[in-house]
Amino acid sequence: MHKATESASTSRRPACSAGDKSLVVENLRKEYTRGKPVLKNINLTVAGQCTTAIIGPSGTGKSTLLRCINRLIEPTSGRILVSGQDICTLRGSDLRAARRRIGMVFQEYNLVERLSVMENVLCGRLGYISPWRAWLRKFPQEDIERAYDLLDMVGLTEFARARADELSGGQRQRVGIARAVMQQPHILLADEPTSSLDPKTSVEIMELLREVASVNDIPVLVNIHDVTLGRRFADRVVGMSKGDVVFDGVPGDLTDEHLKLIYGGEDWLA
Ligand SMILES: Nc1ncnc2c1ncn2[C@@H]1O[C@H](COP(=O)(O)OP(=O)(O)OP(=O)(O)O)[C@@H](O)[C@H]1O
Ligand SMILES: [Mg+2]
Repeated sequence: MHKATESASTSRRPACSAGDKSLVVENLRKEYTRGKPVLKNINLTVAGQCTTAIIGPSGTGKSTLLRCINRLIEPTSGRILVSGQDICTLRGSDLRAARRRIGMVFQEYNLVERLSVMENVLCGRLGYISPWRAWLRKFPQEDIERAYDLLDMVGLTEFARARADELSGGQRQRVGIARAVMQQPHILLADEPTSSLDPKTSVEIMELLREVASVNDIPVLVNIHDVTLGRRFADRVVGMSKGDVVFDGVPGDLTDEHLKLIYGGEDWLA
């Protein structure tokens, strides 16, 4: 057995709840250039309430994996099941409906700067309301009430009317998380959500993502370069190297040997 595969298969998996909101990735391959796979053969099953940290060196395919899952890019082959539905076969309105069930949190927040915090959170409902309502920004009362609840959850009630460009990075990321949860997603993906934030704020954002996973009973996948932070907050760590999963297990099982396998070399471990 290949050493990397052996590591992935022998590590213990965390016991996360097996709710109906789940993600299954089967034999996922992605080639941007024919014959040169960035993702080789990714297999991953994540159930509700589980926060998974995806770690690995720059260029190893972490963002490519998340972009395949939310169908921002087309996988070359393989299957991606969100709550049991294979999203790779969907087109048109079915695909749009499936993408509503996948929340995304970005490193650079991706807020609409000139809109208020409340309007940014409500943007999470855009895929659900009619185009004329969206154009007039007329959201149903229940959406507005839910947005207030979410602003309360992320600690930004008093900023509801503030413009997004008046907020700090940490506050913006809280809005980004509230907007994603507003979609009522079945899974939440976060691509380096703490990379632009100071250490204390990064901890708060990871705590919030964990809370989102447990309160909403959804799997949360976080691409993260900070291994210590990932280990501290995740129920599970997936280590990638050169387009393959080479570690998949609970944080306590991740040894220096695994880190060498994932990142290569050892000087940096000192
Ligand atoms: N749109 C694209 N077209 C062609 N190649 C791409 C594209 N996007 C990414 N790649 C290549 O795919 C590989 C994986 O990139 P990816 O962004 O997924 O890595 P990553 O693990 O997220 O890296 P980082 O930690 O730096 O964010 C890299 O070699 C990158 O150059
Ligand atoms: Mg990336």
